Amino acid sequence: MDAADPAFPADAPPPPRRRPRYRGKNPRAFHEKYKEHRPDQFPETVRKVLASGKTPAGTHRPILLPEILEVLAPQPGHFAIDCTLGYGGHAEALLRRITPGGHLLALDTDPIEGPRTEARLRAAGYASDTFTWERRNFAGLGALLAARQPQGADLLLADLGVSSMQLDVPERGFSVKTDGPLDMRMNPQRGLSAADWLAKVRPDPLARALRDNADEPHAARLAPLLAGRLFPTTRALAQALRAAVPARDADEVIRRVFQAVRIEINGEFSALETLLRTLPGCLAPGGRAAFLTFHSGEDRRVKAAFKEGLRTGTYSAIADEVIRPGPAERRENPRSTSAKLRWAKRA
Ligand SMILES: C[S@@+](CC[C@H](N)C(=O)[O-])C[C@H]1O[C@@H](n2cnc3c(N)ncnc32)[C@H](O)[C@@H]1O
Repeated sequence: MDAADPAFPADAPPPPRRRPRYRGKNPRAFHEKYKEHRPDQFPETVRKVLASGKTPAGTHRPILLPEILEVLAPQPGHFAIDCTLGYGGHAEALLRRITPGGHLLALDTDPIEGPRTEARLRAAGYASDTFTWERRNFAGLGALLAARQPQGADLLLADLGVSSMQLDVPERGFSVKTDGPLDMRMNPQRGLSAADWLAKVRPDPLARALRDNADEPHAARLAPLLAGRLFPTTRALAQALRAAVPARDADEVIRRVFQAVRIEINGEFSALETLLRTLPGCLAPGGRAAFLTFHSGEDRRVKAAFKEGLRTGTYSAIADEVIRPGPAERRENPRSTSAKLRWAKRA
């Protein structure tokens, strides 16, 4: 629209937009689920969605919350760090326990969901003296804390991977189920989208990424079929994979390839390795860390770093066994199924 057009004065309110109509009884598309997007106005709809084992649109359910609170033992006055704010479910539970007197520093690289979560937590009564959010990769936590809280934190949480909001919004391009641009960046303002990366990558590094990031057994065969090709949408990539593997394997192959590409373009393993390396310097003596992982590549790295820290005396105790969601949580929130929790205590 031309700003000088007298028919559309610059300060005119935008033309009213019609709410998208349901195509049937149950809305399928993310933008049609308008009741789920307004939980305060439609609590019954949200309750039904939760009862059906689904995550209401635009939200994320915190996983292993009671177990995380038990291992981190937050107390009033604690300085806490949430490396992965997401929808803020864990953050809010921590805030409730560290106030009065405590402070939660939360990070997330996502410039779209981060400000929304910050606004929700502010509306819930957490002002900047108790809660701060930084749009930042947790790989930079060491430098941030050195300037801000050199004595280290009493507790730290990292809930790795992507949030339900990122997965469910088709425009973010993470979802196999709904078509969208093949993007997959947690921070869409930086780096290459998944489509651009696949269009540039050579077969060898792609095969390595498929193996290292998702243990993909068909890596050697799939890499030459995918590398250097343009897949503009999530559906285009999923269809190419479906055509390339036996039908019985297709869903799992698609899930693993999406995971491998996502990990690669977001530099997830290098960020995790940096965080694990700097973790001891981020914790006060006796400080506790909890890591929630969702696949073997993440869990292997956390386990190895904690074991090494225990051997060298950096940590005084670590989890003997992983903590996993019980049957009730897995039933109520199927996205929790692959979660594994490990913790460590700074000496
Ligand atoms: C599983 S969600 C966290 C959910 C959150 N615990 C809650 O209760 O809603 C993971 C979040 O971590 C963020 N994230 C992933 N890698 C990150 C990194 N290296 N630095 C900062 N944030 C990251 C993602 O953008 C996403 O919002």
